[in-house]
Amino acid sequence: MGADSRLNAATHDPSPGVADAPWYHPTGNEVSLFEQCHRHGLAVMLKGPTGCGKTRFVEHMAWKLGRPLITIPCHDDLAASDLIGRFLIQHNGTVWQDGPLTRAAREGAICYLDEVVEARQDTVVVLHALTDHRRMLPIDKTGETLQAAPGFQLVVSYNPGYQRMLKDLKPSTRQRFVAMDLDFPSPAVEARIVQHESGVAEPDAKALVTLAGRMRQLRDRGLAEVPSTRLLIAAGLLMMSGIEQREACRAAIVSPLSDEPSMVGALHDLVDATFI
Ligand SMILES: Nc1ncnc2c1ncn2[C@@H]1O[C@H](COP(=O)(O)OP(=O)(O)OP(=O)(O)O)[C@@H](O)[C@H]1O
Ligand SMILES: [Mg+2]
Repeated sequence: MGADSRLNAATHDPSPGVADAPWYHPTGNEVSLFEQCHRHGLAVMLKGPTGCGKTRFVEHMAWKLGRPLITIPCHDDLAASDLIGRFLIQHNGTVWQDGPLTRAAREGAICYLDEVVEARQDTVVVLHALTDHRRMLPIDKTGETLQAAPGFQLVVSYNPGYQRMLKDLKPSTRQRFVAMDLDFPSPAVEARIVQHESGVAEPDAKALVTLAGRMRQLRDRGLAEVPSTRLLIAAGLLMMSGIEQREACRAAIVSPLSDEPSMVGALHDLVDATFI
């Protein structure tokens, strides 16, 4: 497998048309906070559980700010050279190829490192010089010191729920970011999101959110992962394609959350009590 396919960085160019805007419903003051961070060139850390809207928020902000978005999924195999670049051997010699971080710094793009805790510390450290006032990226292999173009911004996401003792960010890394907490929205907003994204009618969207609220109360009583907005949307999409409501909830919400028979039984009871 080639380094590039393993890295799987995706570039998303900002689209001019409103119709193409990634739809995002704010849950607090995050839009203006992010805009101010962008204006001041401050790096941002998005904290929040899976499926709460972190990726959608970054896509929306990149569009709103008119910047390209380069997304890098992090994993423990990710090396500094995967971010910065490498020499490639070709028939007529070697050529330098920028990695996605270097490309983002050159183009003034928003560079989004998804699940940054998954990356090794020696990889994360290459971000440091870009996050202080110098906004520099030293490229050791070519001897270039790249000054990040205006508009370049570093954004990382971090799911505190998955945090393991051995895999936490160093304070020297954490303190380089403005952290924004994104959590599940209020029931009214979450119902609007489910309705918009899946197309279900308002009563069904509200029922799905009520069900999620009931399940989320089980967090401290044995349910390790609580249902995200993403799962509610999946259930809504199944309902829209004609799957019976309770069956849609069992397939899209209950089964992904637990394998433990007594917990699954309790979750099925909540489904039956919500969709009578
Ligand atoms: N505030 C929101 N506005 C619009 N859509 C939202 C919002 N929150 C969640 N969604 C919907 O939920 C889906 C999941 O959100 P998203 O993929 O952004 O989650 P995430 O926080 O990036 O999750 P993960 O940590 O697993 O990557 C989105 O595709 C979108 O449909
Ligand atoms: Mg995401």
